[in-house]
Amino acid sequence: MPTTTSFGTTHDGTAVQLYTLTNAHGLQVSITNYGGTITSLLVPDKDGKLSDIVLGFDNVSGYQSPEYLKSGPYFGALIGRYGNRIAKGKFTLDGKQYTLATNNGPNHLHGGQKGFDKVVWQAEPGTSADGQTLTLSYLSKDGEEGYPGNLNVMVVYTLTNDDALKIDYSATTDKATPVNLTNHAYFNLSLGQSDDVLEHEVTLHASRYTVVDDTLIPTGELRPVPGSPFDFTRPHHIGERIEQVPGGYDHNWVLNPGSGDGAHPAALVYDFASGRTLTVTTTEPGVQFYTGNFLDGTLQGKDGITYGKHAGFCLETQHFPDSPNHADFPGTILHPGTPLQSTTVYAFGVRK
Ligand code: BGC
Repeated sequence: MPTTTSFGTTHDGTAVQLYTLTNAHGLQVSITNYGGTITSLLVPDKDGKLSDIVLGFDNVSGYQSPEYLKSGPYFGALIGRYGNRIAKGKFTLDGKQYTLATNNGPNHLHGGQKGFDKVVWQAEPGTSADGQTLTLSYLSKDGEEGYPGNLNVMVVYTLTNDDALKIDYSATTDKATPVNLTNHAYFNLSLGQSDDVLEHEVTLHASRYTVVDDTLIPTGELRPVPGSPFDFTRPHHIGERIEQVPGGYDHNWVLNPGSGDGAHPAALVYDFASGRTLTVTTTEPGVQFYTGNFLDGTLQGKDGITYGKHAGFCLETQHFPDSPNHADFPGTILHPGTPLQSTTVYAFGVRK
């Protein structure tokens, strides 16, 4: 069974826990029920040495400090009700216009002022045939952050004995509502050895990406990647062409559909220095590849490490940003009677 320890007390006086899941090879993931946040993830390097490869803090106060809340990086957190942006915080559903908080310039981001990253989830540690599990549940009430419907969300983290972190998302609602769930882990496969991830080599299984305006809202165009710095159909170092992308990578790639409705490959990351690989598969149609462009060295995390620009990268599997305002994007409206199911697997390995 996973172990449970205290992770401190939130600002409003709620005691929160840290659950540590261990697999047959000694890999370990720690997750707190505050925001369903992955706080550390120990995986072996090419010499078999285990070390932490995600950005975060070792106490809940790190996630509630004024500096953290001001910069809003969402380290390792579960994101909802709607991952990424909704233009001007507005959408129309069944003839009714809804207005959400605008917490990112003119737009709504990652669920609003108090998204799923800032709530305390009900947690149940357990085991399954695949490995140790943590089941998190949360009821997002009708009207919360301006969204319609009581939304029951369940997220199951499994640390599998074949060295993967599997995240199963499910949700049901009693009124139609937009839903787009993801996890916002920042990886650095050489954390503690390298200050940034520019040397990591990335492959994205996507031949198009969603073009955005200067507030990062999709224009609607799905642009083919060939000939551009967005072409990761073959491996490229993150840093190789990043200067050609104003601000750095912070875009949604349109994943090539797999055969059937099941999971398809999303990404492969290789870090030569540690030998570590990260392979991402998902049932989602898109992935936000974000290169920590807004990290600026003001946050210091676990082990005294300061997080500067590009200290980590995120691969947020998701439906496309602002889908409620783009009828031709894959739908994100959840209806009563039709549960949402979504799975993403982050698998770890090494190349020697
Ligand atoms: C967004 C970024 C944002 C980051 C942290 C990403 O998903 O696309 O623009 O800065 O999350 O909030």
